[in-house]
Amino acid sequence: MCGIVAAVAGRDVVPLLLEGLRRLEYRGYDSAGVAVIVDGKLQRLRSAGRVAELTAATAQNKLTGNTGIAHTRWATHGAPSEKNAHPHISGGIAVVHNGIIENHDAIRLKLQAAGYQFTSDTDTEVIAHLIHRHMQTAADIFAATCAAVGELQGAFAIAVATEAEAGRVVVARRGAPLLLGIGDGEMFAASDASALLQVTRRMIYLEEGDVVDLHRERYEVRDAAGKKVERPIHLSELTADAVDLGPYRHYMQKEIFEQPGALANTLEMVVNAQSLSPQLFGVDAAKTLAEIDSVLILACGTSYHAGVVARYWIEAIAGLPCIVEIASEYRYRASVPNPRALVVTISQSGETADTIAALNFAKELGHRHCLSICNVPESALVRLSDLRFLTRAGPEIGVASTKAFTTQLAALVLLTLVLAKLRGRLTAANEQELIQALRHLPAALSHVLQVEAQIKEWAKKFAAHDHALFLGRGIHYPIAMEGALKLKEISYIHAEAYPAGELKHGPLALVDKEMPVVAIAPNDALLEKLKSNMQEVHARGGQLYVLADRDARLVSSAGVEVIKLPDHAGILSPILHTLPLQLLAYHAALVRGNDVDKPRNLAKSVTVE
Ligand code: G6P
Repeated sequence: MCGIVAAVAGRDVVPLLLEGLRRLEYRGYDSAGVAVIVDGKLQRLRSAGRVAELTAATAQNKLTGNTGIAHTRWATHGAPSEKNAHPHISGGIAVVHNGIIENHDAIRLKLQAAGYQFTSDTDTEVIAHLIHRHMQTAADIFAATCAAVGELQGAFAIAVATEAEAGRVVVARRGAPLLLGIGDGEMFAASDASALLQVTRRMIYLEEGDVVDLHRERYEVRDAAGKKVERPIHLSELTADAVDLGPYRHYMQKEIFEQPGALANTLEMVVNAQSLSPQLFGVDAAKTLAEIDSVLILACGTSYHAGVVARYWIEAIAGLPCIVEIASEYRYRASVPNPRALVVTISQSGETADTIAALNFAKELGHRHCLSICNVPESALVRLSDLRFLTRAGPEIGVASTKAFTTQLAALVLLTLVLAKLRGRLTAANEQELIQALRHLPAALSHVLQVEAQIKEWAKKFAAHDHALFLGRGIHYPIAMEGALKLKEISYIHAEAYPAGELKHGPLALVDKEMPVVAIAPNDALLEKLKSNMQEVHARGGQLYVLADRDARLVSSAGVEVIKLPDHAGILSPILHTLPLQLLAYHAALVRGNDVDKPRNLAKSVTVE
């Protein structure tokens, strides 16, 4: 995952920036860079390699300076190149950036028309030129950055330095983490507290839309509306080797809120792409993916639910038959192998014993094509598969899987689209539209997280019950399954999910005023059907909790509480609808006083049968 470190001090900041990058190494990266201001001139060094190589280069070049920004970049496929490594420069302005700029194409065209020349394939370079352009009219780099940020769409964090104003760094955050480190006569910023523990424990966690002007002795925070605001200073108690909890109480909460960034990292390779390439899944993927005639997905737990969602996408969009099996069942079942099927294993850890055994079993049966979607690069499952897609969720500590699930879904959308394209089922126009939707996804997730306050109210009510039902239809049925699993895992409330049409075939007998029923009600072709199912619940006194889309014509009434998600996502809707369900489970577990990150009897990685 990409990392940012920035510093303004009276001493040489180069060693501090490099040590900060070194402490972010655990997040994964493949290129690194630093820019400092030396005697009123910007100097930049970048390396398509490790931080150690960058450090050697700074020593060789005797790089020193009192103001600087640095970055680790996790490029995805193909060789990570120096030209794409950050910082990116325009005139004397340098920028580092995490996240996705959705409208970078449109801004690039405008800037090119104004004469700006681009030297990289990144959306970050667009930011550098845009700030440079605003500098022509703005009073200073702070004003220019505020103006540029106002034009950017997407989820991102940036740090900016300019040779015209040494002793000053401007940072901004929207949808990607960023914090300040308050030193003694020196100021810092980073994407993760662990990068700054070497210099200070006094941290400020920035809020959505904040832009900050950092000087050695002072700083000024402007909120999303441009108003000057104070943000509280936290004293970090983090030890250098722990994964930072930041402003959160639990890892699960942190990981829920990390999802915009995790999805941005996972989708990084499509952000700048004009088209989707089979190489996303490995160098030889094009040949294999063109050859297959069906898909067999094997997984456990939450990863299995990701597989069930994918089945709807793969059959509807790519037109390929798709079977999804629980790995622990498949490995003992006498099934009929199809050597032309693509066997997809999905796993957060890549170490789940049943999933590994199922993959080995599939191979023994004669399956030849294996793809693994996994969050851990060196894991057993990845090593066993010819094709792979690594999700970029970063370490997931909470036992209940959250960001691993939504990044798996992102990976599975990409797989679906690549399969559809190889089969001539994706027009160029559709492809562009979907790439744009993927670019918008991190920002859409940030918007959806804003329903937390409303979900907390639901959670108080759920915590008082011992049972709950979750209803969904079509592709949102597996999201209902995932919502029920989350609630069970950490709140210990017995929860079951049903495709809403099945209600009348049994579970309706359970419905009375003691039974909370969650209905996932996106504005899709099945909404009218779902409304009748909700009516069946309402008529029996069941308490309905409805997650609807912004423009759904559903309103709260006696016995029916509706939360409208503030964004739309078309075929990506299941990803958006997952977040409120994660929050519901989290807050219900909190109300019940449970150990959210370590629920009883459960393990993060189940490496035994
Ligand atoms: C355990 C975890 C779940 C996870 C499942 C599969 O049960 O508690 O959160 O979904 O294993 O794990 P995997 O690492 O294969 O995704």
